[in-house]
Amino acid sequence: MSDTPFVANRRQFLATTAAGLAVAGLPRFAIGAPTRIKVGLMLPYSGTFALLGNNITDGFRLRLAELGEKLGGVEVEFVRVDDESAPPKAKDNAAKLIVKDKVDVLIGTVHSGVAEAMVQVAKEEGTLTIVPNAGSNRITRELCAQNIFRTSFSNWQANHPCGDVVLKDGHRNVALISWNYAAGKEMMEAFKESFTAGGGKIAKEFMPDFPKDEFQAYLTEIASIKPDAVYTFFSGGGALKFIKDYAAAGLQGKIPLYGPGFLTDGVLAAAGPAAEGIKTTLHYAHALDNPVNVKFREAFKKATGREADVFAVQGYDAASLLAQGLTAVKGDIGAKKALYAAMEKAEIDSPRGKFTLSKAHNPIQDIYLRQVKNGQEVVLGVAAKAVNDPATGCKA
Ligand code: PHB
Repeated sequence: MSDTPFVANRRQFLATTAAGLAVAGLPRFAIGAPTRIKVGLMLPYSGTFALLGNNITDGFRLRLAELGEKLGGVEVEFVRVDDESAPPKAKDNAAKLIVKDKVDVLIGTVHSGVAEAMVQVAKEEGTLTIVPNAGSNRITRELCAQNIFRTSFSNWQANHPCGDVVLKDGHRNVALISWNYAAGKEMMEAFKESFTAGGGKIAKEFMPDFPKDEFQAYLTEIASIKPDAVYTFFSGGGALKFIKDYAAAGLQGKIPLYGPGFLTDGVLAAAGPAAEGIKTTLHYAHALDNPVNVKFREAFKKATGREADVFAVQGYDAASLLAQGLTAVKGDIGAKKALYAAMEKAEIDSPRGKFTLSKAHNPIQDIYLRQVKNGQEVVLGVAAKAVNDPATGCKA
């Protein structure tokens, strides 16, 4: 893990890695109670979502550092896999961490398609898994399980509230554009559900393959259709490219741009003036004025040199959730029943505001309405309070 960007306390961090422990000559478990656990990070560290994987990792490690490099009294050893947001490699990557590296806990991943395959392996093997991003509805619906938790959102949750926002802004005819994979499809469906229920019409849908970022032809067609607004999900490198291309095509300020907040989080500074005016819904906002968020943002900046975003928050909260569970079982990762029960009941004091988990292990959370004004993500209000994913089909 020496190539990770987190440099806050390298000496302390080294002491908890395999290399550090080998040097110190310590056994992985002392006789009796376990003294440390192995955490597998299955995240994208390359490609369009690399930024997201790095911020999730650094958010997790920031929380661990705040807790004295221990979760529930046990030390943490990391094993990391770059999943490249590549669905065909997902099962092998999950199996490598679970079967070969024998991780106690899996933290992953960003891409919904990769996450669905990963979760199926984790379910079969009974490995505790915390999803720190991927919004696949299925993970906390049909695929839900005792050992699968999520600290992020469902694709439905982050997008459904935006249908009413767009209607209230007076737009009736909207074009959609997103990547053609699980998350893009579910996000567009969730928006359409509330938007069309309120009388909205879909002008046209464009679904380029993931992770394609050649948008020119679609933007030309959008300009000719002249919808009232455009609703979109892109994220990471693809989002930055889309925002810039949208402005360069002359559509900024002419056809208002909406989407879930993944569109601007992490890329706001790089997008510059091209992001002005974009309105989004999300379970987090940089400007939230609560003490946990203020402290978190300062600490993240100090540790990494970068601004925190929703992805860093989700990683940070994954460590908080695991810490609460392990504290309840005095660090005994083997006490699965009690561990999962404690995690299910956890109240997470998150930078997004306090949240609890549903029976399906998905956050119940407020969805904020944000808009980029003068280069800042301004909070316009709460678009929907205490949003709970319907968890259809979850039988666990
Ligand atoms: C997903 O694939 O679920 C996904 C990816 C990136 C995001 C949000 C969701 O920013």
